[in-house]
Amino acid sequence: MDVITLAERYRDRLPLEPGDRVVSLGEGSTPLVYADALSSELGLDLWLKLESMNPTGSFKDRGMTVAVSRALAQGATAVICASTGNTAASAAAYAARAGMEAAILLPQGAVSLGKLAQARAAGARLLEVRGTFDQALRAASALAATGRHVLVNSLNPDRIEGQKTAAFEIAEGLGRVPDALALPYGGGGNTRAYARGFTEWDAGTPRFLAGAAARRGETLASAIRIVDPAHRAEAETAVRDSGGAVVALTDDEIVDAWRALAEQEGVFCEPASAAGLAAVRKLGASGTVVVVVTGHGLKDPDAVDRIAAPIVGVDADADAIAEGLA
Ligand code: F0G
Repeated sequence: MDVITLAERYRDRLPLEPGDRVVSLGEGSTPLVYADALSSELGLDLWLKLESMNPTGSFKDRGMTVAVSRALAQGATAVICASTGNTAASAAAYAARAGMEAAILLPQGAVSLGKLAQARAAGARLLEVRGTFDQALRAASALAATGRHVLVNSLNPDRIEGQKTAAFEIAEGLGRVPDALALPYGGGGNTRAYARGFTEWDAGTPRFLAGAAARRGETLASAIRIVDPAHRAEAETAVRDSGGAVVALTDDEIVDAWRALAEQEGVFCEPASAAGLAAVRKLGASGTVVVVVTGHGLKDPDAVDRIAAPIVGVDADADAIAEGLA
C-alpha cells in the first residue's frame, strides 16, 4: 500500500499508540496551489490549501482519522456528532470503515444535499433535530456523557490534534511559515487546531484572519451557521495573539469570494469555504498568504444557483448552438 496516512506522516506528533489500528482513507497531504490571478489582484503571494481534496471532501477527515482510531482503540462501538454536514459526512465514512455505528444529529432543514447524501450512503443513523446546530451539539454532548457513544465533534481533543497537521503541511510545503493564514471561523475548532500546529512547529505563527458570518444564525454559508462557537475563547485569543483579526463577513462578501475562487482560479468550494479569501479581501494582507479552502463545492450544488448563469436549452443543430453561444 503506497498511501502514506496522515498518522504515519506525523506519528510522533499525534496521540496514537504503536499498536493502534489507524482508521484511514488516505486523508491529508492535500494540494497547496499558487493562485496567480488572485495574487495579482491583491498584490501578494496567495496560496490555496485545498482541504476540499480530503477523502470526504473537507478538512474534517484529518481530525476524524485520529478521533475514530482512538475511539476504536478504547473499545467504543459507536460515535456521535452534531453537524452542519461535513463532520457528519466524515464521521459516517470513518465509522463505516472502522465497523462502528455513527449517530448524527442534524439541525433541521440546514444541511446541504451533498453532505446528507454522503452520510446516508455510509449507513449512518441520521436524526434531524428540531432546533439549531448549537442545540443539537448540546444534545450530542449530553448523550455522549451517558457512555455508549464517543463524541467526535471538535470538543473531542483528538479532532484538534489531527487537524493541526494541516499547519505542518503548509510550513513544509512553503518551506516557511506564511505571513498570514486565512480560514473560515464557525465553531473555532479549526482555528484552534492551526494555532496549535504552528506553535508546535515552532518556527513562528502567521497572522490569523478568521472569516465569520456577520449574521451567524442566518448566513447562506450553512457550514458555519453557528451562533455560539464552542471554541470562541481559545480561537479568538489565538487570533488576537497572532496580530490577526476575526473578520465579520456579509453573505455578499462570501459569495463574491466564492465566485472569484471558481471563476478566477478554477477552485470550486462550498460557500463557507470562501470565507478565508473574503477575509483577506476585506481586511487586506501582505507577503505570503495561505487561504484554507475547507470543503468541496459538490457538497452544496443548490448554492450554485446563486453564482452561475442558467443553462440554455438548444436543438441538436449547429446553427442553433452557435446562436445559443452568441
Ligand atoms: N468550513 C467548513 C466547510 C465547515 O464545514 C466548517 C465547520 C468550518 C469551515 C468551520 O470550522 O467550526 O472548526 O470553525 N463545520 C462543522 C460541521 C460545524 O458540522 O461540519 P470550525
